[in-house]
Amino acid sequence: MVTRLPSSSEPLPAGEPIGCDTSDLLQVHRIFRWLYRELPGLIRGVDDGDVRRASVVADYAHMDFFGLHLHHETEDLVLWDRLVERSPGCGAHVDQMKAQHAQVAVELAEVEPLLEQWRTRADAATRDRLAAGVEHLRDTLVGHLAPEEEHIVPVATSVLTQSEWDEMGEHANAAIQESRKQLPRDVMAVQLGLMLATVPADERPGWMKTNLPAPVRLLYSLLLKRRYENAMAELYEGRPVPPIP
Ligand SMILES: [Fe+2]
Repeated sequence: MVTRLPSSSEPLPAGEPIGCDTSDLLQVHRIFRWLYRELPGLIRGVDDGDVRRASVVADYAHMDFFGLHLHHETEDLVLWDRLVERSPGCGAHVDQMKAQHAQVAVELAEVEPLLEQWRTRADAATRDRLAAGVEHLRDTLVGHLAPEEEHIVPVATSVLTQSEWDEMGEHANAAIQESRKQLPRDVMAVQLGLMLATVPADERPGWMKTNLPAPVRLLYSLLLKRRYENAMAELYEGRPVPPIP
């Protein structure tokens, strides 16, 4: 991809240097790879007719689907136009990303109704169709994340300012707040706990200090950490939580 210095008609945020830290996107991609790697096995592990366990797994699957929709919506809204404006040479790769997002959306639309059917019936036939659909979605998603990391992230790093990049996180957090009523109570704890799980244990205090305001750090240690651990213990019921690679 050709990287050019900004030639945009869009004014840059006053006084802000070009260039940004995009490592949070790579953390989020690692989480998605892990979530969608694990989800089919979690679904297949529910016995025929076990409505209680299906409901637990379905709550987390719903969060995974919501998170993927939101992640792609955020990139569609915040990233593509600005990247092409600043670096026209990446237009073909941006078109590829848009087409891949559209394919992911089609496959999400196929599995979401199955999830709701399975949640209430917990029958083996729907469970197996759902798990197979998620495996298909996982393969499509994995095939999308790698080219985005190879062709998009380096350009974003070199042509966007930090506050422009941070608009993605701001959009995503605002959307989560707006949708809180349709998400499990622990969504914030799970979101933050998973981000921290991608950071080596000895680097977590430093990561928190750099990335979280003091009140959120306090809230995490007092409440959210325990909620995250309880959520993972509920989901993985009696076995260790697989580490995020
Ligand atoms: Fe993407």
